[in-house]
Amino acid sequence: MTLEIKNLTKQYNKQKTGLSDFSIRIDKGILGLLGPNGAGKSTLMKIIATISKPTGGTVFLNGEDIVKKPDTIRKTLGYLPQDFGVYPNLNAYEFLEYIAAMKGVGGSGLRKRIDMLLDGVNLTADAKRPIGSYSGGMKQRIGIAQTLLNDPKVLIFDEPTVGLDPEERVRFRELISEMASDAIVILSSHIVSDIETIADDVAIMKNGTLIDKAVPSELIRRIENRVFETSIAHSDLELFKAKHLVINTSRQVEKIQIRYISSSSEAEPGAKKVTAGLEDVYLFLTQSQH
Ligand SMILES: Nc1ncnc2c1ncn2[C@@H]1O[C@H](COP(=O)(O)OP(=O)(O)OP(=O)(O)O)[C@@H](O)[C@H]1O
Ligand SMILES: [Mg+2]
Repeated sequence: MTLEIKNLTKQYNKQKTGLSDFSIRIDKGILGLLGPNGAGKSTLMKIIATISKPTGGTVFLNGEDIVKKPDTIRKTLGYLPQDFGVYPNLNAYEFLEYIAAMKGVGGSGLRKRIDMLLDGVNLTADAKRPIGSYSGGMKQRIGIAQTLLNDPKVLIFDEPTVGLDPEERVRFRELISEMASDAIVILSSHIVSDIETIADDVAIMKNGTLIDKAVPSELIRRIENRVFETSIAHSDLELFKAKHLVINTSRQVEKIQIRYISSSSEAEPGAKKVTAGLEDVYLFLTQSQH
């Protein structure tokens, strides 16, 4: 399984560019997409899911052009859109049966698969209740279950953990890791720690372009030995910001506690080096003007 994304561009209109000459190769495993609002994550995912067509470039799945031949990917695709709508009057079981019919999934194994998926997203107890009565997190979970009906080989989750409580996040991770052993899984999130714990590879996007892609530990190495914490006077903050990338501040009575990425590996007087994390690199790559 390989997705080869080549020079993908999506020009929505004269002013709005969703993607700009975007290229990436995606192999089996879990790829996390990180990027600020408007970076182009959803645009990219919609094009791979063949919901939207690019204005330039193309996507190959195992060498087949899926922009020209969307059916090549559709039968092996599971997709959770960012704005997943549900049918409020159907219960979870009926909804999954309906989606299965649309995907052409049927046969004697379907009942068992639906039961297994409902269990996987912890909705068995609520399966007979109309989806319209579900909480936001429960709707999100039925959306996740729906992607897995057809034993997909390409799974796309646009912000799957939105609305999930910490316990459900852990369940989601387990479910996806299980499913992902033999598939390409692409997921976006604003929660860096969610991506950090689940993704094999992380791609960081901004303004419709790819800024960096690597395994998390390699990304973190880009700023190793440059993350510090210190305490400074309130009045020094602006000066400090002009010199370094301040990524976190917490106000205290007299002083202000900050975490920053230094422009060199030298510590400011009194600052102490701390272990860098994915959140630090993410902010470094998306916020600094390098
Ligand atoms: N249907 C559309 N028409 C016009 N512009 C659009 C459309 N969809 C997205 N865009 C623009 O394309 C750019 C990328 O949007 P996209 O939704 O792909 O970003 P995103 O990374 O998913 O953001 P978010 O984190 O907010 O979900 C933004 O500038 C957005 O305004
Ligand atoms: Mg989006």
